[in-house]
Amino acid sequence: MEVNVLFICLGNICRSPMAEAIFRDLVKKEGLDNKVSCDSAGTGGWHVGNPPHKGTRDILKINNISDEGIMARQFIKEDIEQFEYLIAMDPSNIKNIQKLSGDSAVKTRLLLDYTDQKKGKEVPDPYYTGNFDEVYGLVREGCEALLKEIKTTYHF
Ligand code: 4NP
Repeated sequence: MEVNVLFICLGNICRSPMAEAIFRDLVKKEGLDNKVSCDSAGTGGWHVGNPPHKGTRDILKINNISDEGIMARQFIKEDIEQFEYLIAMDPSNIKNIQKLSGDSAVKTRLLLDYTDQKKGKEVPDPYYTGNFDEVYGLVREGCEALLKEIKTTYHF
């Protein structure tokens, strides 16, 4: 069985495409690309069709992680059926997903909930803070923890 992960933020140009690129890289390095796949989406539609923000592209490049083919799209309610994991960056994303899907019980988790030390914390929006370095560290930590959880759950 293939496990599908959707990373969600507000604009789908800073945090969630960064998570998609990092997670995809981790999955590939572990040889799990035939078992685990991922995508990202924004709850807002302003940047649909755009590549990631320059700050995200730059920090990925510094860390030798490809952002090839990553392009912004908006979250749609059908995503709920398509993805086993809906992973939000902050609590406002979760509220917006509930609104867009018309389902207040939709199962969404914060990325940092998978870590030991940062459960319940948000990934701050670098579109406003400009701090892409800090976000890279948090997103990497969350992605590593999430993959560990998936490997345990699905016995990969
Ligand atoms: P993201 O950051 O949610 O991490 O992609 C944002 C990008 C764009 C906007 C807001 C947040 N915006 O308002 O255009």
